[in-house]
Amino acid sequence: MMENMTTGGMLEIGGVSSDKLAAACGTPLFVYDEAELERRVQDYKSCFRSELFKTEVIYASKAFVCKAMLDKLKQYGFGLDVVSGGELHLANQSDFPMEQVYFHGNNKTEDELAMALSLGCGTIVVDGIMECRRLVAMANRMEKEVGVLIRINPGIEAHTHKYIVTGDLDSKFGVTFREEEIILELIGLLRESKYTKLNGFHVHIGSQIFDLRAYDALIERMMKFIKKLKSKHMIEVRQLDFGGGFGVRYTAEDEPSSIRKVCKSIIEKCEAEIRNHELQLEKIMIEPGRSIVAEAGYTIYRVGFLKDTPNKSYLFIDGGMADNIRVALYDARYECDLANKMDREKSKKYTVAGKCCESGDILIEGAMLPQAEPGDLLVVYGTGAYGYSMASNYNRLNKPAVAFVKDGKARIVIRRESYADQMRLETNEEVNL
Ligand code: LLP
Repeated sequence: MMENMTTGGMLEIGGVSSDKLAAACGTPLFVYDEAELERRVQDYKSCFRSELFKTEVIYASKAFVCKAMLDKLKQYGFGLDVVSGGELHLANQSDFPMEQVYFHGNNKTEDELAMALSLGCGTIVVDGIMECRRLVAMANRMEKEVGVLIRINPGIEAHTHKYIVTGDLDSKFGVTFREEEIILELIGLLRESKYTKLNGFHVHIGSQIFDLRAYDALIERMMKFIKKLKSKHMIEVRQLDFGGGFGVRYTAEDEPSSIRKVCKSIIEKCEAEIRNHELQLEKIMIEPGRSIVAEAGYTIYRVGFLKDTPNKSYLFIDGGMADNIRVALYDARYECDLANKMDREKSKKYTVAGKCCESGDILIEGAMLPQAEPGDLLVVYGTGAYGYSMASNYNRLNKPAVAFVKDGKARIVIRRESYADQMRLETNEEVNL
């Protein structure tokens, strides 16, 4: 976690004090430290390189995306992973270079595929045989060229600290590489069309992974597999995309590897395997999401009421599960502080709870904080990934605003939703059947 500056007990983010941010932008507020974002993007850009092959870092939009984020990624020449027409639309509206967009997903609709083809999306990651048939037919009909990666389920499952090499044949994503006939059929289909160009394979083994040996095992498996395709079927694979999933620090217990270390480890393993199997790979890609945005993001809430029950001291905030579903959904852990009392002794244990009508709307259990009062500011660290992107209007809460801060300046990059915004879709129209 980054060490933040404090002045007079007030937390600063990007040189801006949190009370000023809260007063000017309202709460709850997502705040991104732009310099930290840039450092992370730059680290990926400069460390994920090799003399032996081209490289591309593809940002996973799902972690957090908006125009300002895409503008930044454009500057650094990143690729972009999208998984829906909505993410694709945003990329297009942000003038993101379409040839650097990778369209993922296990059930892309016909409309989404048509949109991707007509916008000139560079690569479609094909998930299975039915999708492949449809894509080939559509590309032929629309006379649109597109690169294709086939998503493989490599039988390696990684969950945080552990990884297991499984024979899991039942993931909803991809084709297991044991189903060689299906992979050959997919390759055959793609080759039949002059519009679809098979570039290689894509894999993604999970999220919040700390043990880099999981990627070593993955790289070994994939390289062995493409070696076999080459020697047995004369199929030359040119690109491999190893997905994302690199762990971040949510609490002091998390010990992620640095971005530099992650990149070095993957690059060196790829180089060794390529030499070992005498392969001719053109390009290696990775797709980080969380590790770029999580630790650059904060949520600032205003403390409302406090309530003591026989065994707990509740501290209520003006957001909760609507802006951070990760705690209720995954038991995610976060750390927090009272942003306006950074210099006070943390003398009391609180249960930080949101305002939604659900008992599970608890953000942090057992948070040691200074004595709190209504009007204090609670900051939750590391909320930059899958917070805003998974936010909902549960209980008709307005989605928070998102601010980028840098060098003592702040700008709003996503406006706070208003009740009027929520009413926008309300209607009473007769349907023509
Ligand atoms: N590539 C693919 C194909 C993915 O499915 C994902 C994440 C990524 C890249 C980026 O993974 P990352 O580097 O962000 O871990 N909502 C969950 C995370 C779901 C991740 C889904 N796929 C959470 O809040 O923890």
